[in-house]
Amino acid sequence: MRQGRLQGKHYHASYQNRASTEMNLKTCMRFICVALSFVISAVLAQPSPNVERYSQLTASADGIGKSYMGREISAVMGWQGAAWLERQERDREERTDLLLAALMLQPGMVVADIGAGTGYLARRMAPAVMPGGKVWAVDVQPEMISLLQAGVKRSGLTQIEARLCSVDDVKLPASSVDLAVMVDVYHELAYPYEVMASILKALKPGGRIVFVEYKAEDPLVPIKQLHKMSEAQIKREAAVFPLDWERTVRTLPWQHVVVFRKRN
Ligand SMILES: C[S@@+](CC[C@H](N)C(=O)[O-])C[C@H]1O[C@@H](n2cnc3c(N)ncnc32)[C@H](O)[C@@H]1O
Repeated sequence: MRQGRLQGKHYHASYQNRASTEMNLKTCMRFICVALSFVISAVLAQPSPNVERYSQLTASADGIGKSYMGREISAVMGWQGAAWLERQERDREERTDLLLAALMLQPGMVVADIGAGTGYLARRMAPAVMPGGKVWAVDVQPEMISLLQAGVKRSGLTQIEARLCSVDDVKLPASSVDLAVMVDVYHELAYPYEVMASILKALKPGGRIVFVEYKAEDPLVPIKQLHKMSEAQIKREAAVFPLDWERTVRTLPWQHVVVFRKRN
């Protein structure tokens, strides 16, 4: 009896052990299933891969072999070419005075110079937003940011703040910017759609975004074709965002200045 009870107890204990092992296994399986379903839904929640927005092509000499809305994206101008951005004759060749007038800067404005390079334009815009304003000078190349910071230091313009961004995000605070300007930059963005979306997020309602691009329509502009953009192409690419075209300034010798306003 005692033995039986013991046996029974033993049997019960081993049954209990087996039962609890099975329970543990079931709980474990359930946990794995739940975790897997979380992982799968997180993966599915990601934006669809770039293949839908971008396509591949054979890279041309100045391009990256990636096409967006009917054009090949150009290669980024490396920091090694920075001296060209600061060349003495640039003000005269590009009539930077006309560009600055076209931007209609006002004291107190927060301006974002996207793809600021060495800060050529940021340094010229900064005095016009004072007092009370600020210029974010954003670039994707750390070497450009270093050159920019050195130039800003020399200029003594404290209202310029440099910021390193990523290839697909300008990384500026939401709803903080009155005017975002890209001078000879947009055509070389590897992720134009994503960068535009991030600029839209950073713009205040009613804020402006300005494309300054070498005129593709003018064969006399001495710039490689892939580094130019037509006004029609700029408008086509801006049209996928909640932007209203405001005006195009065509008085600069090499570039057009195409201005859009973010819808409220
Ligand atoms: C031709 S330079 C023009 C620089 C400056 N805007 C000027 O006019 O002096 C183009 C600049 O865009 C920057 N750039 C390229 N892709 C970028 C991106 N995804 N985000 C921010 N800057 C970018 C490059 O690093 C380079 O400094």
